[in-house]
Amino acid sequence: MNLQDCILTRRSVRKFTQQPVQHETLAQIVSLAAFAPSWNNTQVSRYLVIEDRDELDKIAQIYAPENAEILQSCPILIAQTFIKGRSGFEHDGSFATDRAAGWQYYDCGLAAQTFCLAAHDLGLGTVVMGQFDRKGLEHYLEIPKNQELMALIALGYPDEHPSAPRRQDVQSLLSYAEKRVNVRAKDGINLFIPSGKTTEIFP
Ligand SMILES: Cc1cc2nc3c(=O)[nH]c(=O)nc-3n(C[C@H](O)[C@H](O)[C@H](O)COP(=O)(O)O)c2cc1C
Repeated sequence: MNLQDCILTRRSVRKFTQQPVQHETLAQIVSLAAFAPSWNNTQVSRYLVIEDRDELDKIAQIYAPENAEILQSCPILIAQTFIKGRSGFEHDGSFATDRAAGWQYYDCGLAAQTFCLAAHDLGLGTVVMGQFDRKGLEHYLEIPKNQELMALIALGYPDEHPSAPRRQDVQSLLSYAEKRVNVRAKDGINLFIPSGKTTEIFP
């Protein structure tokens, strides 16, 4: 699959077949996710696999009732964690920027999307889940104290092929700082002009 097709056709999958996922396939996905960019190449994201049916059902009922149907359907659940205090931190433990502890979440997002695209390329479906009892699940899964649970990712062979939810158009997403500066300079006032309109003013 070429990259554009992979990006465009990846969907959040919430219904899975019971076809097992081979550990070699999972290792391949993680090895690809490892190539996501990260703060100073700190690579803080980790992947804990839960594949025991009773455990998955327990997590569904007790720790993630909002996503219970997904967890009851998926053959594998990934608990994405990260090593705390590295991404976005100086060696002395202080924050490197005013984002404070935020860069470690950013890195996990990049790694998760790379994970999901790699899985999709191999014919697997995923959905990232943010709705769960983080503290309770960290305790239940015995996440080490130097790690934090970031997100859950359901993984398996898709039993549904949902269409893409609507996306915003480029005009509302993209703006050019230089054109805004030009408008300010021309008018001599601090005028905010949405990016879409700047092209009409400066064709
Ligand atoms: C940080 C994050 C948290 C999410 N949490 C959930 C969730 O708890 N349950 C769920 O069904 N989907 C969840 N999703 C999936 C989004 O609903 C989905 O990505 C979005 O609707 C766009 O659809 P698509 O992934 O098919 O393009 C989450 C996605 C992200 C990135």
